[in-house]
This record gives sequence, structure tokens and C-alpha cells, in this order.
Amino acid sequence: MFQLGERLRLCASMVRPGCALADIGTDHAYLPIWLAKQGMISRAIAADVRPGPLERAQQNIERYQVQHLVSARLSDGLDAFQPSEAEDIVIAGMGGETMVQILSRAPWLKNAEKHLILQPMTTVSTLRHYLAVQGFTVLREQAVQDEGRVYSAFLTVYRPDLAQEDALYLQIGKLKADTPDNRLYIRKRIEQLQKKASGLARSGKQAEAEPLLRLIEQLYSMLEKDVAN
Ligand SMILES: C[S@@+](CC[C@H](N)C(=O)[O-])C[C@H]1O[C@@H](n2cnc3c(N)ncnc32)[C@H](O)[C@@H]1O
Repeated sequence: MFQLGERLRLCASMVRPGCALADIGTDHAYLPIWLAKQGMISRAIAADVRPGPLERAQQNIERYQVQHLVSARLSDGLDAFQPSEAEDIVIAGMGGETMVQILSRAPWLKNAEKHLILQPMTTVSTLRHYLAVQGFTVLREQAVQDEGRVYSAFLTVYRPDLAQEDALYLQIGKLKADTPDNRLYIRKRIEQLQKKASGLARSGKQAEAEPLLRLIEQLYSMLEKDVAN
């Protein structure tokens, strides 16, 4: 058996034991195969929009002999799914904007029973904003280092009564500064915000830079507070 990398292992840790899983953008299908091998899911559909990755997924499903639990399906996002086929849905390793497109075409996800486990690579704030506006709340979030990069993954469900959106949430979601990897993720966000604020200041847009500078201060104080505790 193969070892699952830290990034996918974090996603796997958020999947409910015994669930019916959909892995969207599965590519190699390592995540559902690994979960099936651990006896942690009742069944899984490994879906991809491109035939090449799907063929790779099918080959791996056969190679690791989990055909009875995992099937491969050609699907753009969740378009080729019935709501009853997926309880936990993982979408990992793609951009936040692509995830927004996928989620917006599956209104049946607005059901507190469905668990979404998301690990976006880019445009994370766009995704966070979309989720909050649509009534999704983040139940759990954690960052992890994998092959020299830091990623965040989160578990989100439809709970309009709990959904929140503020400037801090859009940057770091529900992360707390309580693990080295979470702290690293927060530091990376600070660096990105600093670059953006400097660019704005250089082009004379001080008023637009001000909220970013306040946000940077808030993030620094999170890091400092946690060291003090
Ligand atoms: C970088 S791979 C990520 C593989 C795996 N999920 C991971 O995190 O390691 C992204 C995969 O998403 C697939 N993909 C991109 N857009 C998609 C969509 N709209 N629906 C389904 N799959 C998609 C790509 O074909 C590719 O195989």
C-alpha cells in the first residue's frame, strides 16, 4: 500500500467513518482507495471531469483491489451525481473559484446532513465568501505542511443559523494559532496581505490599504496571544 501525503491525510481525517464518499477531482483516486483500504468508508465514487485522470483512477482501483467499494465516474463536479449517492464530499487540490462553480450547480448540498471537505489551492477567500453568503459554516479547519507548502482544509456544512463572514474569516477561516502549521499558514497570509497593502500604498491608495493593515495587526496579535498562553 502507498502512504497518503499529509495534505490528503488531513482531508481523510475529516471524513465520517462508514460514510458514502464522493471524491471530486480525484485524479489518481488515492484518497478513496486509502480510506477503503483502512475500512473507513462504506463506498466511494471517485469522480473526475477528464478521461485521462479517470483512467488512472480506474487502474489504481483495480491495482489495490477495492472495486467492491470504489467506482470511477466521469463527472463535471457533482453534475453526474444523485444526492443520495454522497454523504461526505471531498473536493481537494483545485482552485477556490472552480469549487464555487461546482458547489453552485449542486443546490442539494444545502442540507445539514451533507459534509463538505474542501482543500482549495488558490482563491481561497472567494470560496470562503461564497460559502458564508450561501449559509455554510465551517465546523473544523486545520493547516498542514506537505512537500514544502502549507495548505488549509476545512469541513463545512449548511447551517445558515451559524454562518458568519468577517474580514478575519475571509483570510484564515476558522484557523486558530494553536499548531505550528496553523501558525505558518497565518504567517503566509500576513505576507500576502503585506504585499497587497504595500502595492496599494505605493499607488497612492492609502484608504484601501488601511483595512488590510488593521487585518495584519489582528493576525499578528493572534500569533502573539497564542505564544503568551
Ligand atoms: C491537482 S488534481 C487533485 C487530485 C486530488 N484531488 C488531490 O488533491 O491530490 C485536480 C483534479 O481535478 C480535476 N478537475 C478539475 N476540474 C474539475 C471539475 N469541474 N470536476 C471534476 N474534476 C475536476 C482535474 O481533472 C484533476 O484531475
